[in-house]
Amino acid sequence: MAKVKTKWVCQSCGYESFSYLGRCPDCGNFATFCEETVQEAPQLKANSSPALVLNNDLCAKRLNDIENDEKIRLKTDMQEFDRVLGGGFVAGSLVLLAGDPGIGKSTLILQTCKNLCSKKDGTGSVCALYICAEESPQQVKLRAQRLGVDTVNLYVTNQNCLEEVVRQIDEIKPDFLVVDSIQAVFSSQITSSSGSVSQIRECTNILMHIAKQKNITTVIIGHVTKEGNIAGPKVLEHMVDCVINFEGDRYKSYRILRSIKNRFGTTSEVGVFNMEDDGLSEVLNPSELFLNPSDTSNCGCSVIAALEGTRVLLLEIQALTGSTPYPNPRRVARGIEYNRLLQILAVLEKRVGLNLSKQDVYINVIGGIDIIEPAADLGAALAVLSCARDIPLKSKTVMIGEIGLSGEIRAVDNLEKRLREAQKLGFEYAIIPKVNKNIEQKISKLEIKTCQVSKLTDAIIQAFKQD
Ligand code: TYD
Ligand code: MG
Repeated sequence: MAKVKTKWVCQSCGYESFSYLGRCPDCGNFATFCEETVQEAPQLKANSSPALVLNNDLCAKRLNDIENDEKIRLKTDMQEFDRVLGGGFVAGSLVLLAGDPGIGKSTLILQTCKNLCSKKDGTGSVCALYICAEESPQQVKLRAQRLGVDTVNLYVTNQNCLEEVVRQIDEIKPDFLVVDSIQAVFSSQITSSSGSVSQIRECTNILMHIAKQKNITTVIIGHVTKEGNIAGPKVLEHMVDCVINFEGDRYKSYRILRSIKNRFGTTSEVGVFNMEDDGLSEVLNPSELFLNPSDTSNCGCSVIAALEGTRVLLLEIQALTGSTPYPNPRRVARGIEYNRLLQILAVLEKRVGLNLSKQDVYINVIGGIDIIEPAADLGAALAVLSCARDIPLKSKTVMIGEIGLSGEIRAVDNLEKRLREAQKLGFEYAIIPKVNKNIEQKISKLEIKTCQVSKLTDAIIQAFKQD
């Protein structure tokens, strides 16, 4: 009898080794290796694998002769989701929707199915197949009732054998396919258990071929967790067209949809949703959700206008400073980069003379949003200073500007757009960089009063001026 060959696969990143390793040399995680059986190379016979059966268009074509079907987008009728996707699902694309268990992935996708199946576009309504490999069709029905899904074009099956799923796809011929979740489906061609890296990779590979060749828009749902032997969807990122993360605090009702890879659009967009009793509702103006204007006049609070993709979010930054008996004071940054905080504190010490070497500093962006752009520097610095001095900042004022190492306030992008959003939300003053070009004429039509500053010290004088 032939000897069964095995290999050890890191369940976190997919790194393969012939022997057990305690620490993965690729991703650096400990105790993530599991033994999996090595497969014989598939035989190149017709009908041997769904991918090969469908792969009948192998001849190279001239680029000019290839039809551009990029314009065919399936709109989800949810502005927030469509924007993150770059204008709706591209027909035949493969999208990975990843997120923590219980965050609302199944809810979001069921609502998407509802919208897609019940609308009529030029070609008639969309037919969807929902593979609920984790739940029974009755459970999906219950959730669908709660969400008000009532369509004849949505098919549901809890089949988790991929070969059987492929058979059902051939039978139903859907335009939209959902696999919930990829960790729960398995291919009978692979011996390792469902959820292992080999299974996930193989199943996604087959689904990718089906999506491309049958032009079925496919969404695969993946849980992000390192527990047990369930592989994180990291190993799939290079195979799929889009990776969308659904994030949020499980104890709060809002959820953020973020694109981290998109072959058909930008990755800088976010969509905001609110989880309610009857499903997810879109939050078209997130600033209102994250900002409570009555709270922002406390010591240590400032308001910034941050750009998330093409949209401006007004967010509150809170800072807390306190003396510490320990020689190494703590620096805790939530929502802004840790090193950015250290740099801001260093500038405050050197250019403003604020010594925090015996103080702990905590800084937090309300709403769980991560700000990656430097335009939040000024707001963060002023929040720290306001707390350290115990003086509130000027009320109804928004702070916009990047701080340079010599204490200068540097230009930011889309200043006019930020000011417009602040004005819309009832802010009366804005402290902005002086160096932004041609800003005078652009802001002359706005009602919000602006104060242009070139140095951090000037900004501080303006920010603490009470009228
Ligand atoms: P679910 O979509 O099952 O999450 P996932 O597929 O990501 O694991 O939804 C999870 C939570 O959402 C669940 O704890 C209950 C809550 N929820 C609501 O608050 N309202 C609703 O209408 C629905 C359907 C779910
Ligand atoms: Mg689910």
